[in-house]
Amino acid sequence: MKAGNLVAVSDLHVAYAENRRFVEGFRPENENDWLIIAGDVGERVADIEWALSLLASRFAQVIWAPGNHELWTPKGDPVQLRGDSRYRYLVEMCRRLGIRTPEDPYLVWDGPGGPVTIAPLFVLYDYSFRVPGVNTKEESLALAYETGVVCTDELLLHPDPYPSREEWCWARVEETERRLDACDPDVPLVLVNHYPLVRQPTRVLRYPKFAQWCGTELTADWHVKYRTAVAVYGHLHIPRTTYYDGVRFEEVSLGYPREWRERGTVPRPARQVLVAHELTP
Ligand SMILES: [Fe+2]
Ligand SMILES: [Fe+2]
Repeated sequence: MKAGNLVAVSDLHVAYAENRRFVEGFRPENENDWLIIAGDVGERVADIEWALSLLASRFAQVIWAPGNHELWTPKGDPVQLRGDSRYRYLVEMCRRLGIRTPEDPYLVWDGPGGPVTIAPLFVLYDYSFRVPGVNTKEESLALAYETGVVCTDELLLHPDPYPSREEWCWARVEETERRLDACDPDVPLVLVNHYPLVRQPTRVLRYPKFAQWCGTELTADWHVKYRTAVAVYGHLHIPRTTYYDGVRFEEVSLGYPREWRERGTVPRPARQVLVAHELTP
């Protein structure tokens, strides 16, 4: 039996025809490959289901963490659920498709580079990656509105039943820490979150004011507090590998067609998460 690969991708944004074609052609290298999807598959439930069911039928195992786009309630979508109910609806859809979500027991990858526990996370953001020099969310948001760099989440990502997106985030942080505290400390983790767990990756954003929609300071030490092999994230649409405190971070996004066209290459199918020699002493 061929050894599988653990690969990751995010930000498939399948509402775009070109990205849809990319997903249609996206196949595992062999039948034992696992695929991590770090959010932003699409916005409409039917689009998300189309992509996830296709990929679940091809990969031995798919693991999904939600992005902000899955949590939007777009006007034209027949599914008008908002906030946490929308998230739970998507979790149930994933379960029907055999896909693991942040609400399920974490799986252990025993293939090359393993064993590692794969933890898909959903911790959202709380506007704490503020514009430098300001002290409150309100001031930071006001500066974003002044310059017109405002995330569509403000209109479409409803926090119901939480009073605000940041309160939803804080509840998720608490719940997620409880889950991570309970993990076996002898098995390294692959932490999968739509947003970077640390702020540093947002420093290269074209519009730095956008950082406030990109994570929370509350996760800044998770990659050291928990034994982390790799931290996988997306959302920034800036695919690259960086290291913080010696821990590898992989931004694995496909991004919008104009973005991957600008990079000048056909998008690579998915990023290898583990390299066997890295983890074996
Ligand atoms: Fe995205
Ligand atoms: Fe995103």
